[in-house]
Amino acid sequence: MDRPLVSGEVNCMDDLAYFQNLRANKQADDHTLYLLGKLCKEQGLYTEALSVFGELMLKQNEALNDRVLREIAEISALRSTGITGVSAGSEPPGEQTPAAETPDSASGEESGEAALSASPPGEEQSPPALRLVGGSGSAGAPRTAKKDVTAFRDVGGLDALKKTIEMKIIKPFQSPEIFAKFRKKSGGGLLLYGPPGCGKTFIAKATAGECRAYFRSVSITDILGPYTGESERNMRDIFSSARARKPCVLFFDEIDTLGFNRLKAGSMSARGIVDQLLTEIEGIDSSTDKLLIIGATNMPWDVDDALRRPGRFDRSVFVPPPDQEAREAIFRLKLADRPAEPLDYGALAKKSPFFSGADIEHVVELAAERVLEEILRTGRQELKISQRVLMETLSAERPSTLGWLKTIGDYVRYANQTGFYNEVETYLRENKL
Ligand SMILES: Nc1ncnc2c1ncn2[C@@H]1O[C@H](COP(=O)(O)OP(=O)(O)OP(=O)(O)O)[C@@H](O)[C@H]1O
Ligand SMILES: [Mg+2]
Repeated sequence: MDRPLVSGEVNCMDDLAYFQNLRANKQADDHTLYLLGKLCKEQGLYTEALSVFGELMLKQNEALNDRVLREIAEISALRSTGITGVSAGSEPPGEQTPAAETPDSASGEESGEAALSASPPGEEQSPPALRLVGGSGSAGAPRTAKKDVTAFRDVGGLDALKKTIEMKIIKPFQSPEIFAKFRKKSGGGLLLYGPPGCGKTFIAKATAGECRAYFRSVSITDILGPYTGESERNMRDIFSSARARKPCVLFFDEIDTLGFNRLKAGSMSARGIVDQLLTEIEGIDSSTDKLLIIGATNMPWDVDDALRRPGRFDRSVFVPPPDQEAREAIFRLKLADRPAEPLDYGALAKKSPFFSGADIEHVVELAAERVLEEILRTGRQELKISQRVLMETLSAERPSTLGWLKTIGDYVRYANQTGFYNEVETYLRENKL
């Protein structure tokens, strides 16, 4: 696989040693531990990663707890599937070729959204607890050969969201000259925010597909380097390599982690990273660069204010929990290629309000495990996933998005002076939350 960034494995190893050293000397704050855990995971050092995330769990850092839990679940899944190495990390491989060039090409670089549903049958027999993926569907699960380009047709439901992205992003990206005529700026980045597991990464990819642009995903570990100035240089390299592949969508996942307040470890200059990112974004000439910047976060309240000013990530879009139509699509996606009886997907969608894509994935996993256990117990190989098993599993599960929606409700009420959370406000009102 073509590693997305110039900071290659050598830098990863430098970062790893640097963070390990900080931890050994008890100088690692929670955020450094989190990054160390992620690096260990990317390098396939799962035991160390679990030890680091376990240490972090004990610290009960509310801001990180959800992510740490997700990382632990992902590592368990990775261990059970036997995937190792850098590409097995939680970040998608970050590569999607323009739709125009390879509309139907098969590729092993497919994002993980359909991956779990395509596990080879043999893998289903791993211990149940190790098969659960608690977070994003791009959790390093086995990748399938499938058409390479994700587009809006792959995103179920969410029509209002698609329309917004179409008007705010895709049209200006495709026809910058019309916007220039009205002196309307079409540059700047798009910030996607919403509860975990609800399709931010998926929609970013689909947006790239609609723009017929190359998709490249960047995470904080791609940027950070241990030496002074190295992170800034990595950031510059990321943008120049993106320009070389234009039209290109650069996707900054978990963009809140770039924030000034959230990185205090050693010589890393978080301010420098944010400043460099701002310089790069402001340097984009939207009429010629054909470079679209998308950031995603579950914690919009933690995104550095400087990133949200005009000309930067100044267009934000709320990615809500999937609506009924989207849930139906996700059930279909997650159950495809699994032995199942004829199913009433509409009923499943109806019974799962506020479930995220990742929650649905989890329910399907649990249902598959139940059927497998039954087969192992009775020897009845012909058993399939049934509507009854899915409905019963659904009854026992709770949507994970409600906690997030409650938290954001507080921000809507007490911290929405700028109107940043207006879309969320409408969503909460319409859904009587
Ligand atoms: N509207 C949708 N249509 C089809 N699939 C969806 C939709 N929304 C989410 N999914 C599926 O749900 C899973 C989770 O989505 P994704 O990884 O994009 O979430 P996310 O918001 O980026 O999560 P995180 O905040 O954890 O990174 C993916 O496997 C994706 O395929
Ligand atoms: Mg994501």
